[in-house]
Amino acid sequence: MKTVFIKVKDLTYVYHRGGVSEQVALSRVELEIKKGEFLALVGPNGSGKSTLARHLNALLLPTEGEVLVDGMDTRRSENLWEIRRRVGMVFQNPDNQIVSSLVEEDIAFGAENLGVPSEEVRARVDEAITMTGLSGYRNHAPHLLSGGLKQRLAIAGVLAMRPDCLVLDEPGAMLDPSGRCELMNTLIRLRDSMGVTIVLLTHQMEEAAKADRMIVMSEGSPLLLGTPAEVFLNDELLQDLGLELPVAAKIARRLRRRGFLVPKDIVTVGDMVSYLCR
Ligand SMILES: Nc1ncnc2c1ncn2[C@@H]1O[C@H](COP(=O)(O)OP(=O)(O)OP(=O)(O)O)[C@@H](O)[C@H]1O
Ligand SMILES: [Mg+2]
Repeated sequence: MKTVFIKVKDLTYVYHRGGVSEQVALSRVELEIKKGEFLALVGPNGSGKSTLARHLNALLLPTEGEVLVDGMDTRRSENLWEIRRRVGMVFQNPDNQIVSSLVEEDIAFGAENLGVPSEEVRARVDEAITMTGLSGYRNHAPHLLSGGLKQRLAIAGVLAMRPDCLVLDEPGAMLDPSGRCELMNTLIRLRDSMGVTIVLLTHQMEEAAKADRMIVMSEGSPLLLGTPAEVFLNDELLQDLGLELPVAAKIARRLRRRGFLVPKDIVTVGDMVSYLCR
């Protein structure tokens, strides 16, 4: 049984627009995120994914309820530093995350700001470069890199801060399919080799299918929560929300309707190919 890293208890969040109108973005959310798991967060536009993600490193604080990161309450200001160190955020647009004119300096920036000794920073930068496959780009200018490389650079910078958890808010949105695929591989490698907890917000069900668990958000609350295989069995509900099943799950469903006994856990193209070849 994996230990719980982040606990969300009865979380409600209300945005106030200039004190005039209110928008309830999250409503009574209960959630546990386990150490070392890869959790995907999907849901239609405006369902509360980003608002929830921003609570995980205290960028937003609960209107009601609480969020505990490694046991630390995000509402207590004395915990802020440790929480931000443990939970790193990566956003949609990699251009907004570049701070230096040289790749290795850019990666070092966050760790330096944490007051990490310079020798240790160098070691961490080397490791982050290896983990994200940026070895050939050390001395390149960040703003000249492709979108996919820029996003890997953003991840490397957060990694050098040695977070226990990475929260990524649609990091693939500005990338082409091959950039997105590379990004997924990087995230899976981080979970497998360093035990980093990954929380990925995405509109791509193919990506969510590769996670350990997924949450489908709807109108500010988790509607479905389980392994991708469990969640994809609710195909009608997903369709009502405008969410498409991944291709492999669609094919599996059609084969089942024709009487083939396709196992429930076939949710990625890789799974489907090995099943069909058997
Ligand atoms: N800064 C804000 N001020 C007021 N309301 C907001 C603000 N940010 C988000 N909202 C509202 O809160 C709700 C949840 O928004 P949120 O951005 O968390 O959804 P999301 O699932 O991330 O959507 P998307 O898929 O478009 O990124 C929506 O109704 C949205 O309009
Ligand atoms: Mg969002």
